[in-house]
Amino acid sequence: MASLLEIRNLTKSFGALVAVNDLSFSVAGGEILGIAGPNGSGKSTLFNLISRIPFGANRGEVEFEGRRIDGLPDHRIAQLGIIRTFQREAVFQSMSCVDNILVAIEQTTGARGKEAERLADEACDLVDFPKNFHNLPAATLPVFYQKQLMLTTAVAQNPKLLLLDEPASSLVENEIDWVRQTVSRLNANGITIMLIEHVLPLLMSVSTRLLVMEQGNIIALGDPRKVTRDPAVVEAYLGQPA
Ligand SMILES: Nc1ncnc2c1ncn2[C@@H]1O[C@H](COP(=O)(O)OP(=O)(O)OP(=O)(O)O)[C@@H](O)[C@H]1O
Ligand SMILES: [Mg+2]
Repeated sequence: MASLLEIRNLTKSFGALVAVNDLSFSVAGGEILGIAGPNGSGKSTLFNLISRIPFGANRGEVEFEGRRIDGLPDHRIAQLGIIRTFQREAVFQSMSCVDNILVAIEQTTGARGKEAERLADEACDLVDFPKNFHNLPAATLPVFYQKQLMLTTAVAQNPKLLLLDEPASSLVENEIDWVRQTVSRLNANGITIMLIEHVLPLLMSVSTRLLVMEQGNIIALGDPRKVTRDPAVVEAYLGQPA
């Protein structure tokens, strides 16, 4: 598979703390790259640096489809096809669900009216977001459906590369199954995915490769089964082999 995303020497510091330390790796078109690591190891910061939401790197390069994007504003990066979700449900609480989706579509793709409605419908189908929720204010949805709405909003923006930050956090077993099936379905529809998760069985079941971070560094990257048996990973994160 050809490389879709190339990361070179990406670095971000907060004062004396190096949250992302000189990371270099690539993501192939079509893959699901799982990302694991202890709390505070720099996973979400890595997504910030790629999407530039809310900030970019101090140093290093990000190349997407063969062009440098690390100097571009966040909305241009989204327009090129890199869309992220957030660890906490990030939806416009007072807006209706469908308006949340339509606003994002217009912002990123410029589509309005019937075309925007078609994109919204497609995304709802892909993510299984219930259409009878469309006119409810997002604030009235339980956490699981707010997460679903956030993912639907991301998918509706027509991503080539989707950055998912802990979509399964605080979900119960059957909801995690939804995450598993949806990630697989989106990937089968041609979307390359980077998936940050603490739920290891989920990561192991969907990831083509697994990247493990510790204190801003990559300590392992490769076949998920091999990576979870790597002594450095076991010591840093897992406690015992998976
Ligand atoms: N805006 C910020 N200002 C200062 N420090 C920050 C900021 N964002 C992150 N950090 C610090 O950078 C480090 C990496 O944080 P990050 O959120 O990327 O970790 P993470 O791997 O996503 O953790 P978790 O699994 O808990 O979500 C942490 O020490 C965190 O406190
Ligand atoms: Mg995080």
